Amino acid sequence: MRNTKYDHCPRVPEGALTVEMLCAGGGPVMLEIGPGRGMFALQWAEANPEARLIALEIRRKWATLLDERLRARHQGRARCFAEDANTVLPRLGPDGCVDFAAVHFPDPWWKKKHAKRLVVRDDFVHEMTRLLKPGATLLVQTDVEDRATEYFERLVAHPGLVAQGAPYVDESPFAPARSNREARAAIDGLPVYRMVFVKAAG
Ligand SMILES: C[S@@+](CC[C@H](N)C(=O)[O-])C[C@H]1O[C@@H](n2cnc3c(N)ncnc32)[C@H](O)[C@@H]1O
Repeated sequence: MRNTKYDHCPRVPEGALTVEMLCAGGGPVMLEIGPGRGMFALQWAEANPEARLIALEIRRKWATLLDERLRARHQGRARCFAEDANTVLPRLGPDGCVDFAAVHFPDPWWKKKHAKRLVVRDDFVHEMTRLLKPGATLLVQTDVEDRATEYFERLVAHPGLVAQGAPYVDESPFAPARSNREARAAIDGLPVYRMVFVKAAG
């Protein structure tokens, strides 16, 4: 039987989307993909009260619980939606509406049949780059070295992105805000492969 417990999960409207349709207030915009349990979103929104945050999380339960916490603390300027980022990004605009973007430890899928579910694909890189404002910062991090190599090659190949590391950086540009998995890796002493890109001007 289908689990209906999170049928009320927060969804984005149909059709073309703007930041103003998704969160309240003004100020710079952070876009987080796949926040999971949401520690980064909660910490970042708390530390940046002048900014807005939009998170897209495919799991309905986690999106619902995180959105409840964000709305209770930030009156709509920080939101999490139960959505597949790969279907929402192409509908979001205008170009250059995002100031910061974070993709922490994406792609927990390993089987070949799940390849279509991968987040950091060429079309994702294209849409994400389109949404970033010139000078905006994108962080992609993972603890899986092969995935890091794959992501870096894909990201650095885009003419709109300029790598800030060679290829990895030691510290997140958004520290001290950390994702749950990032905090766990620090406790366990696991390496984290952090890639930082800036959107090229023009
Ligand atoms: C390995 S978890 C990492 C969670 C969190 N970012 C962290 O670092 O603790 C990957 C997260 O991405 C989400 N996810 C996977 N594919 C997604 C997609 N297409 N759109 C939005 N979220 C997605 C998963 O549901 C999961 O919450």
